[in-house]
Amino acid sequence: MEVVIVPDADAAGELIAGAMAGLLARRPDALLGVATGSTPLPVYRALAARVRAGGVDVSRARVCQLDEYVGLPAGHPESYRSTVLREVVAPLGLTEESFLGPDGEADDLPAACADYDRALAEAGGVDLQLLGIGSDGHIGFNEPCSSLASRTRIKTLTRRTREDNSRFFGSVDEVPQHVITQGIGTILDARHVVLLATGAGKAEAVALAVEGPLAASVPASALQLHPHATVVVDEAAAAGLARADYFRDTYAAKPKWQGL
Ligand code: GLP
Repeated sequence: MEVVIVPDADAAGELIAGAMAGLLARRPDALLGVATGSTPLPVYRALAARVRAGGVDVSRARVCQLDEYVGLPAGHPESYRSTVLREVVAPLGLTEESFLGPDGEADDLPAACADYDRALAEAGGVDLQLLGIGSDGHIGFNEPCSSLASRTRIKTLTRRTREDNSRFFGSVDEVPQHVITQGIGTILDARHVVLLATGAGKAEAVALAVEGPLAASVPASALQLHPHATVVVDEAAAAGLARADYFRDTYAAKPKWQGL
């Protein structure tokens, strides 16, 4: 696992957008797995700016969703489908045809979950999966004690996650209890996994995920199993890392040609 400590969220956005741009230059039809939440927004802004400036060709790029609420009405502005279309697909100038996501309104939700795993595989797999991290260490909506081998399935949110996400809704009671999420095993199938965390509220979860034991109680620690996992953190989110100086030295000495 590589840990990159950057000064702030904008620097993180530039760094990861640069990695995505490099990937798209090598593989123009790359499948980018995107996360929702506030943390990845600087990445999407930076990538869209590069596209507008003519530095990245996204005409064949594809985007896929990490997770979804169950039971929100079609077109609800806080469904993750709506969020990804608004924050990623539209600013990049992509169409809905280049977008893959699970069906959170399906009558047969288990079948919709299996269909989504199949669709990702048939699309050739995710080239780069961007992740945030919940304050309790979750990735996607894989709450603590999720199976580290899990596939896309229905999960029940913890009270803490519903409270964290209530800022997007009128109240915590309006946050759905149930969700569909790519499983941890599904996430680990991506060829490159990039976890971004910013702010002091994520410091404890980051330290446990990076330096703690591999444990289902900290779902993000599953990235320790991935052969190409990059954790990008700002100074505040890095505050709990015992090896911060080592990570800084390592990145400073990294040959530029290696990229992320
Ligand atoms: C939700 C999403 C996660 C995201 C997390 C943190 O639970 N399902 O994918 O990482 O929120 O969001 P934020 O970046 O807003 O803190």
